[in-house]
Amino acid sequence: KVLVVDFGGQYAHLIARRVRELNVYSLVANYSIVDEGFIDKIKPKAIILSGGPSSILCRKHPRIGDWILDLNIPVLGICYGHQLLAVMIGGRVETGRGEYGRTMIKIINKDPLFEGWSSEEYVWMSHRDYVAELPSNTKILAISENGYIAAFKISDKKIYGVQFHPEVYHTRKGMLLLKNFLFNIARVKPEWRMENIVDNIVENIRRKVKPYEKVLVAVSGGVDSTVTALLVKKAVGKRLVPVFVNHGLMREGEVEEVLENLRSLGINPIYIDASNRFLERLKGIRDCEEKRRIIGEEFARIFSDIVRRDKDIKWLAQGTTYPDVIESGSTPGSDRIKSHHNVAGLPDWLGLKVLEPLRELYKDEVRRLALHLGVPKDVAYRHPFPGPGLAVRIIGEVNEEKLRIVRRASRIVEDVLKKHNLYDRVWQAFAVVGDDKWVGVKGDKRQHGYIVIVRVVESVDGMTADWVRIPYEVLDEISKRITSEISEVVMVTYAITTKPPSTIEPC
Ligand code: XMP
Repeated sequence: KVLVVDFGGQYAHLIARRVRELNVYSLVANYSIVDEGFIDKIKPKAIILSGGPSSILCRKHPRIGDWILDLNIPVLGICYGHQLLAVMIGGRVETGRGEYGRTMIKIINKDPLFEGWSSEEYVWMSHRDYVAELPSNTKILAISENGYIAAFKISDKKIYGVQFHPEVYHTRKGMLLLKNFLFNIARVKPEWRMENIVDNIVENIRRKVKPYEKVLVAVSGGVDSTVTALLVKKAVGKRLVPVFVNHGLMREGEVEEVLENLRSLGINPIYIDASNRFLERLKGIRDCEEKRRIIGEEFARIFSDIVRRDKDIKWLAQGTTYPDVIESGSTPGSDRIKSHHNVAGLPDWLGLKVLEPLRELYKDEVRRLALHLGVPKDVAYRHPFPGPGLAVRIIGEVNEEKLRIVRRASRIVEDVLKKHNLYDRVWQAFAVVGDDKWVGVKGDKRQHGYIVIVRVVESVDGMTADWVRIPYEVLDEISKRITSEISEVVMVTYAITTKPPSTIEPC
């Protein structure tokens, strides 16, 4: 396995993900827990030191001991990790103008790390501090167009530093560099497959959950919770307690569809129709975060009723994936954007411990895992649907009329995209309704009607997104169907703002 030492920020997980894409198991650990004992315990075949937001020049910068130089394990330091290695061996780091974005580097000394690279290549940089001086037992491998040291090696060791980010998509040959490091330098074998991921997760669950303890899983029909339930079932068998709560904020026909899909996978959830209860509590609530809080609280209450009746339930398993972890601001240093309720933290009074078996994975990894576990393709590739459901696709108060509109309009958007083979190519596609009205003429009569906003985005992980350039004819078909099938709607608009600055959901 490969150990990625996390110095903060979002880089470490991206590196780990890239390593896994190369079929090598990788593990992320915060620098503060990595000591010699830790290394001894997990015995990594290679170590990657991540980038991070700190500056080496601050007195209390995150660091790792220089014992790492004598482990006889190949090390690759990236950005901050590169500077840290330089300082460790007696080099000097200074602060300068910095380099950001696409930057050309020149390879000045051939090395197996750069096998397959041309002598000049574009890479992605993001740094202000830089390595200004290196001791004589090192070899500089590459220099950037601005004259900074872009890569070096400690001469008699398999220890490297690169100032740029090989893990980001914009470093064109970044994956090749990681491959060179892992397969040619560290001699790791690409043996990590879906089976191993499953075994690893299952083993982890078994280690945590005692043999008599039961695990509650709130299933929603989405790929994350479905995979979570299947993994927990593999680990604890009949001690899985799947629950499907209908909060009345589902899409058209969704409840029946979800139940049928789950049953076909051998998951027979306790079904709770709590729609009245949720809709009642949402009356008069206009604020988004307030809606999320209320919905989260109602879920927790329902779970607590179940837990009170079955004292063996000690765990709640959730389908939290890595981007949820970042976006809810639970990673130190990241800002809270929306409190996605599945990670907003459960009230203590629920008294359950939390299992998050997918916490380290990105959505596309979860989808591949789903297919591997026998989940049908249309479920594995279902678009993400927020836990609070249509409540976050209704701007302002949730009421019966707006729910009816957004339900029907969403179905139309999905149907039309499926008909034109576009549904599977996009990340999410849906309709939104708010309180603003537009004057329309329907059958010679003037009518004040609702505005429906259509949003179709592409994304890899939901953290950034672009709006999809849907052909005009398809947009036209969507608009015609919505205004003719939903009598209250007289205007359809298309959302054409990327994330950032916008978010995907309106609320
Ligand atoms: P935003 O709107 O923040 O959405 O750009 C990013 C991704 O997260 C989903 N999302 C949610 N998922 N509970 C969830 O489980 C929520 O409250 C929530 N809000 C947004 C959204 O659909 C998109 O995929």
